[in-house]
Amino acid sequence: MKVIRTLAELRAQLRGQTRTAFVPTMGNLHEGHLSLMRLASDHGDPVVASIFVNRLQFGPNEDFDKYPRTFEADCDKLEAAGVYCVFAPDEKELYPEPQEYRVSPPHNLGDILEGEFRPGFFVGVTTVVLKLFNCVQPQVAVFGKKDYQQLMIVRNMARQFALPTQIVPAETVRAADGLALSSRNGYLSPTERAQAPALYAQLQAVSQSIKTGQTDLRGLEKAACATLQAQGWQPDYIAIRRQHDLQPAQAADVGTPLVVVAAAKLGQTRLIDNLEI
Ligand code: PAJ
Repeated sequence: MKVIRTLAELRAQLRGQTRTAFVPTMGNLHEGHLSLMRLASDHGDPVVASIFVNRLQFGPNEDFDKYPRTFEADCDKLEAAGVYCVFAPDEKELYPEPQEYRVSPPHNLGDILEGEFRPGFFVGVTTVVLKLFNCVQPQVAVFGKKDYQQLMIVRNMARQFALPTQIVPAETVRAADGLALSSRNGYLSPTERAQAPALYAQLQAVSQSIKTGQTDLRGLEKAACATLQAQGWQPDYIAIRRQHDLQPAQAADVGTPLVVVAAAKLGQTRLIDNLEI
């Protein structure tokens, strides 16, 4: 597998390719990421991954500096997954001058849920994703449902800007106890790791209540938050939303495609998860 550090090398390496499938990541790769690589290989060839911890999408008090960087191990995993090349630019290569032109997602999608609790997050994500797309020029790009709102925002961006890249969603990969795999799980202490499946358990409880006829959706959200709080979590939100636009679901929406999305802190670690209903 080739490790590519510059845009010039990347362009030379991919010249003439017409079926490139791309998987952008921030590294510290786990089975969730690798499942995206495998799905990408079903949709195109060559498969190109990127590893870039994107400062633009981190808030001033977030974990940019301590975000786990495990480049050598990541490369071994990508190579074993059959990835053709990994684009891993340093910050000067991707942002040689201040990135003043940015993509601004619509407020009704970019400033809710994750966007409300992480101001500027989706501007940072869409800006780097558009830039990486322009570097790799893929026909297909794979994004995980684990970051449900990110997937929707990227997909809408691709549509509204008529990007020549098809966005393919990938299912969330979980540990045996239900916890969604995430690079941030590594921040959890052993005790916290044992408590962590409670987040997904609450999503399942909410889903089950809706499926068995409960229509007081705001009541379900509050109850799920209260349960997590009682178990020592600090929930940012647990929200029952419509799948197609992520706006709050009403009783009349029950029976149509919904998703329950959640973000909560366990100690110092902020975890997110979601479940389609
Ligand atoms: P990162 O958190 O590294 O995730 C890279 C991709 O892996 C995303 O599409 C994410 O949804 C997917 N992913 C993470 N955990 C997963 C799991 N357990 N199951 C399935 N897919 C999973 O998301 C980012 O990086 C960045 O925001 C990025 C898009 C690279 C832009 O900087």
